Amino acid sequence: MTRRRTTILFFIIGLVVAMLAGWIAVPAALYESIEQPLGFSHVVHTSDDTGMVCDDCHHLTSEGGFAGIPKIAVCEGCHAEAIGTSKDELRLVEEYVKPGREIPWLVYARQPDNAFFPHVRHTRLAKIPCEQCHGDHGKTETLRPLKRNRFTGYSRDIWGHDFSGITTSPPNSMKMSDCVDCHRKRGVRDSCLACHK
Ligand code: HEC
Ligand code: HEC
Ligand code: HEC
Ligand code: HEC
Ligand code: HEC
Repeated sequence: MTRRRTTILFFIIGLVVAMLAGWIAVPAALYESIEQPLGFSHVVHTSDDTGMVCDDCHHLTSEGGFAGIPKIAVCEGCHAEAIGTSKDELRLVEEYVKPGREIPWLVYARQPDNAFFPHVRHTRLAKIPCEQCHGDHGKTETLRPLKRNRFTGYSRDIWGHDFSGITTSPPNSMKMSDCVDCHRKRGVRDSCLACHK
C-alpha cells in the first residue's frame, strides 16, 4: 500500500470511530437511566385471559379530565392477594396493595409543568389513537428504563430523536414542534397560550 492510501485509510477509521463515539457516548452521558419501581406487563393485562381494555386503567373522568396512570385501588380489585407466582406480583401485593401505598411510576411522556396537554381533546374529540403519540407501549411485556436528561430533567421521549436525526421508536417524539405541526395541519389553535399557561 502506498503511504497516501494508508493515510486515507486511517482517516476513515478515525472518522468512523469519532462518529460512533458521538452517537453512542454523548447520549449515554446526557441521559441517566432510571428503572421503574416495579415490573409490569401490559400484554398480560390486555390479553384474552384478563380481557381488560385500555380504558379500564386509563379512563377519562366524568369531569372530562384524564385519570392517567391507575391508582393502586384499581390493582387491588384483582391483586388483594397474589394470584400468580411472579416476583413482581408478590412485591405489588406486599409493598403496595396491603399497606395502601401508591406505586411511584415514572411517566415517559411527562411534559414540563408549563405545557398543558388535555387528553380528552385528543382521544375523544379528535379521535387520535394512543399509538400515534405513545407508540406500542400498550403492547409491551416489560418496562424500559426512563431516560432523563441530566441538565433539563426532561424525559428523552419528548425529544425522541437520535443524534443522527433519525426518529427512534420508541421513544416517540412529542416535542413542541410535533404538537404545533399537527395543530397547523388540522387548523387547531396554535398560539403560545393554547399550550402554555
Ligand atoms: C391493568 C391496568 C392497565 C391496562 C388494562 C392498561 N394499562 Fe397502560 N399503564 C398501566 C400502568 C400501571 C402504567 C404505568 C407503568 C408503565 O409505564 O407501563 C401504564 C402506563 C401506560 C402508558 C405510559 C405513559 C407514559 O408515558 O409513561 C401508556 C401509553 C399506556 N399505559 C397505554 C395503554 C394502552 C394503549 C392500553 C390498552 C392497550 C393500556 N395502557 C392498558 C396499567 C394499565
Ligand atoms: C382484572 C384483573 C386484574 C387487574 C385489575 C390487575 N391485574 Fe395484574 N394481573 C392479573 C392477572 C390475571 C395476572 C396474571 C397472574 C399470573 O398468572 O401470573 C396479573 C399479573 C400481574 C403482575 C405479574 C406479571 C407482570 O405483569 O409482570 C403484575 C406485576 C401485575 N399484575 C400488576 C398489576 C397492577 C400494577 C395493576 C393495577 C394497575 C394490576 N395488575 C391490575 C389481573 C389483573
Ligand atoms: C396527541 C398525543 C397523545 C395521545 C393521542 C394520547 N396521549 Fe397520553 N400523553 C400524551 C402527553 C403529551 C402526555 C404527557 C402529559 C403531561 O405531562 O402533562 C401523556 C401522558 C399519558 C399518561 C401518563 C399519565 C399522565 O399523568 O397524564 C398515560 C397513562 C397516557 N398518556 C395514556 C394514554 C392512552 C391510554 C391514550 C389513548 C386512549 C393516550 N394516552 C393518548 C400524549 C398523548
Ligand atoms: C396528531 C395531531 C395532534 C398532536 C400530535 C397534538 N395535538 Fe393537540 N389537538 C389536536 C386536535 C385535533 C385538537 C382539537 C380537538 C377538539 O377540541 O376538537 C387539539 C387540541 C389541543 C388543545 C386545546 C386547544 C384549544 O383550542 O384550546 C391543546 C391545549 C393541545 N391540543 C395541546 C397539545 C400539546 C401540548 C401537544 C403535544 C404534546 C399536542 N396538542 C399534540 C391535535 C393534535
Ligand atoms: C400545541 C402546543 C404548543 C404551542 C402552540 C406552543 N408550545 Fe411551547 N411547548 C410545548 C410543549 C409540549 C413543550 C415541551 C416540549 C419541548 O420542549 O419540546 C414546549 C416547550 C416550550 C419552551 C421550552 C420550555 C421549557 O421549560 O424548557 C418554550 C420557551 C416554549 N415552548 C415557548 C413557546 C412559544 C413562545 C410559543 C408561541 C410562539 C409556543 N411555545 C407555542 C407546546 C406548545
